[in-house]
Parts: sequence; C-alpha cells; structure tokens
Amino acid sequence: MVFMAESVSILGGRGMLGSDLADILKQSNYAVQVWDLPDWDITCPGHIERAVKGAAVVVNCAAYTNVDKAEEQADIALAVNATAVGQLGRLAQRHHFFLVHISTDFVFDGQGDQPYQETDTPSPISVYGQSKWQGELALRESACASAILRVEWSYGRHGVNFVTKFLGRARAGSELKVVNDQFGAPTWTADMAKAIECLIRGRHQGLYHFANAGYASRYDVACFIAGRLKLASKIVPCSSGEFPVKARRPANSRFNTAKIQAVLDHPIRSWQDALTEFLALR
Ligand SMILES: NC(=O)c1ccc[n+]([C@@H]2O[C@H](COP(=O)([O-])OP(=O)(O)OC[C@H]3O[C@@H](n4cnc5c(N)ncnc54)[C@H](OP(=O)(O)O)[C@@H]3O)[C@@H](O)[C@H]2O)c1
Repeated sequence: MVFMAESVSILGGRGMLGSDLADILKQSNYAVQVWDLPDWDITCPGHIERAVKGAAVVVNCAAYTNVDKAEEQADIALAVNATAVGQLGRLAQRHHFFLVHISTDFVFDGQGDQPYQETDTPSPISVYGQSKWQGELALRESACASAILRVEWSYGRHGVNFVTKFLGRARAGSELKVVNDQFGAPTWTADMAKAIECLIRGRHQGLYHFANAGYASRYDVACFIAGRLKLASKIVPCSSGEFPVKARRPANSRFNTAKIQAVLDHPIRSWQDALTEFLALR
C-alpha cells in the first residue's frame, strides 16, 4: 500500500493487462491515468508527452499484439513496439519518471527445453518478436530508470486469449485438437499486475521474466481446463504443423523466474492455482 497517491500513467491501459493493472494499482491507492486507442496513439510523439506529463511512474502495456498480422504489417508493429518505446525511454531519461515496459517470450526462438533466464540472448523468429526485441534495445539505449518485464501466455478477463478461445470452442461441443509441442506457463494478467506493483513500489530496475509457476504444453492446459469445468469435449493432442499460421511461435516459452521472485513480496503461485481461481470467476 502507498499512503500518498503516487501518479501512474498506464499506456495501453484498456488492454488485457492494462485493465487488470489499473484495478490493482487503484486498490493500492495509486492515482491512475489510463491512455489507449482510439483517442490516444503511442506512435504520436505529442500523445506520449501528454501521457507522461506529471507522472511519477509510467507503465507501457501498449503494443501491437496481433502476432500473425504483424508479418504483413511490420512497419506498424515496429512503430508501436520499437520506435515509440525508444521515444518513451528518452522522455523518461529527460523527465525522471520510472518506466516499466512490458515485453514477451517471443523475443526468444524457443529452441531446447531449458527455462530462459534474463541473461539468455534473444533471437526472435517472427516480426512481432523482432519488434518487441527492438523495443527493448531502444529502451536500454535511452539509459532511463526502467524495468523491462517479459511475460508469456497471458490470459485475463479483458481480452481474447488461449483460455477464452478454448472455452468458446469447447462449449460449442465437438472434438478439439490442441498442440502438444509448445511449452510454457499460462499466466493470469492479475498476477502480472501484482508483480508490476512490486516493481513500482521498490523501483526495481533491470530485466525480469515473470510467469505463473510450473510448465505445461497447450494440450496439458486444455485438459486441465476441461477437467476443472467438467467439459464433455474430447481433446486430441496434435503438432503445431497441423495448424499452419503466418508467424512462427517459439516451442519453448519456459521462463526461469528466480530473479523476479527475489524482489516480490509474495510467492509466485502455480499456473494451476491461478487458472483455477480465474475459471471460478467465469
Ligand atoms: N497476450 C499475450 O499472450 C502476451 C504474451 C507476452 C507478452 N505480451 C505483452 O504484454 C503487453 C500487454 O499486452 P496485452 O496482453 O494486454 O494485449 P492487448 O490486450 O492487445 O493490449 C495492448 C493494448 O495496446 C493498445 N494499442 C495498440 N496499438 C496502440 C497504439 N498505436 N497506441 C496506443 N495503444 C495501442 C491496444 O489497443 P487495441 O486493442 O485497440 O489495438 C491494447 O489496448 C504487451 O507488451 C504485449 O506485447 C502479451
């Protein structure tokens, strides 16, 4: 809890993560301002300046997140995910606000089966991943006071995601094929928001990986949801090759979260516990 209202601007604050973050920060007595499309555009320098004015902290959740569409709209993805982030970093350096920027497991190529650490070298395999990596580099170059938080396999109440898509298809009946060759941890945006609040409160700078604890394939997650909700649909494992998509996805999205765990004021809970609570709200 903070006792004097500290001002926080959330860019992309009406998206899936931004909405949960706004709720969590308001509950913790921060004075929150939310900025997002359609009335606010991170690619307009004047808009960024307006959003950061007077803020002690800025959290950048704004991003071009359509991974497949980015393959054909590389210029827009780069403008939002990279160029604008550099601009934001330079403003943070000049105006001395603390910046938290959100990034992704898609900066990695997903080779091997070891959990990625913050010291591992990115090697993106999609335009989206490349644009997010360029954003991280641009932010680092600005040398502002900042934290970069990489997250993965997000789900939440305010967006379309793997969990909501699966539920929609499962409730429609029929047999469902789910890939069993991509591994990571489904992570609730509400849990990400609590981690971000800790980074803000402690002004923790640097690069951090965050995900709910444990690892699973997409197929494992689908079976878990079906089991919890007693869904009748038959779930069949398949390979990613059976679902041709425009952008390649990393097969290994496992994160080592030891570094962020050391600065959090609570243990990171398992993906099963978080997902069970999320499903109970639906
Ligand atoms: N979703 C995932 O599985 C996932 C995984 C790893 C990392 N991430 C990262 O997590 C962060 C939050 O994403 P999210 O999951 O909350 O996705 P999201 O719901 O798509 O949120 C992104 C927000 O940014 C907004 N936005 C897009 N272009 C903009 C622009 N030019 N100016 C201002 N706002 C703009 C979007 O508005 P519109 O909806 O109107 O486009 C949306 O409200 C992003 O940095 C993303 O890269 C997400």
